[in-house]
Amino acid sequence: MARKEQDVEHELPPPRCHPLLPEGFRQLNTQVAGHTFEAANTEAVGLLQDPSGGCVLKPMGKPECGERELRFYESLAEAGASGDNDLALLRGHVPRFYGPLKLVVNQRERTFLRLEDLTLGMLQPCVMDIKMGKRTWDPESSPRKRKLEEAKYVMCKQKLGLCLPGFQVYLKDDKDPSRTVVLRHGKDYGKSLSVEGFQKTMALFFNANSSDFRTVRPQTEVLLKEVLRQLEQILTWFRGQRLLHFYASSLLICYDYSRLGSSEKSTHLLNGHHFKEDKPSDWVKVRMIDFAHVYPADQALPDENYIFGLNSLISVVHAILHQI
Ligand SMILES: Nc1ncnc2c1ncn2[C@@H]1O[C@H](COP(=O)(O)OP(=O)(O)OP(=O)(O)O)[C@@H](O)[C@H]1O
Ligand SMILES: [Mg+2]
Repeated sequence: MARKEQDVEHELPPPRCHPLLPEGFRQLNTQVAGHTFEAANTEAVGLLQDPSGGCVLKPMGKPECGERELRFYESLAEAGASGDNDLALLRGHVPRFYGPLKLVVNQRERTFLRLEDLTLGMLQPCVMDIKMGKRTWDPESSPRKRKLEEAKYVMCKQKLGLCLPGFQVYLKDDKDPSRTVVLRHGKDYGKSLSVEGFQKTMALFFNANSSDFRTVRPQTEVLLKEVLRQLEQILTWFRGQRLLHFYASSLLICYDYSRLGSSEKSTHLLNGHHFKEDKPSDWVKVRMIDFAHVYPADQALPDENYIFGLNSLISVVHAILHQI
């Protein structure tokens, strides 16, 4: 049966420009934040998707940022197979890394990082990018950059240590329950949010106040518990490590709306093959992304800045779970 969908919000419209891409690659249409392609600027490059490889490709942006992110992923890959040190343990909380790849985009060769597509196999991917920490400027930032960062997303960033650069969510259409709508918002929306607005937006993102709530409730509970489980694991990692500090890094929360409707184990489509899916972690993924500003830990201290944001996020999700 064909799904009926429509975009209801247009602040973050689906990409309309048409960059010259190598065959087999396309723009990542679930990208909710960060740098994107621009019709008027062929130098602006967004993330790509390689549907056959199951990965996304992130352009290495400004040289120092791109190099830092590449080194970060390489250091995780080199951290030893046994998984018994902090770097190796971190691998489970970030997208898998498949190495760099050179591609010609808009007639210029650029290097991309190949990463696991966290929305792979999701029929109706809901995606939220949450930037972590009250402080989003790194130790090498100029006073000007620091001021710019401090003036952004002021309310949520200062009170919760969180900001919301973008998200997309599938929702049941209130007027016509046979329809599904996709709501997309970008950074202008996030910058306008108060703490209460942030909490409400999170509830909306988790379909926790859906008009269709009676049917989706058991699965919404599964979703919220799974998100909390994955957030707690990330928190455990942060409490144990004194190696790295993360600035302007995000958590990406992804889940498949198509799995909310039924609590039955269902077959699911991946790369054209049906397979049985039965673990919440198959359709709910919380991962750390965006490592352009990762630095060695100052004085080998824990990353309290990230931990503060993570604790607030856990409280917000807990509160939603208790309200449903
Ligand atoms: N591994 C991934 N799987 C699926 N989607 C991803 C993945 N990595 C990133 N994205 C999407 O791309 C967006 C931007 O990613 P990211 O934050 O890494 O880039 P950026 O902000 O442009 O980077 P930078 O700040 O380093 O220039 C995310 O909000 C998300 O929608
Ligand atoms: Mg980002």
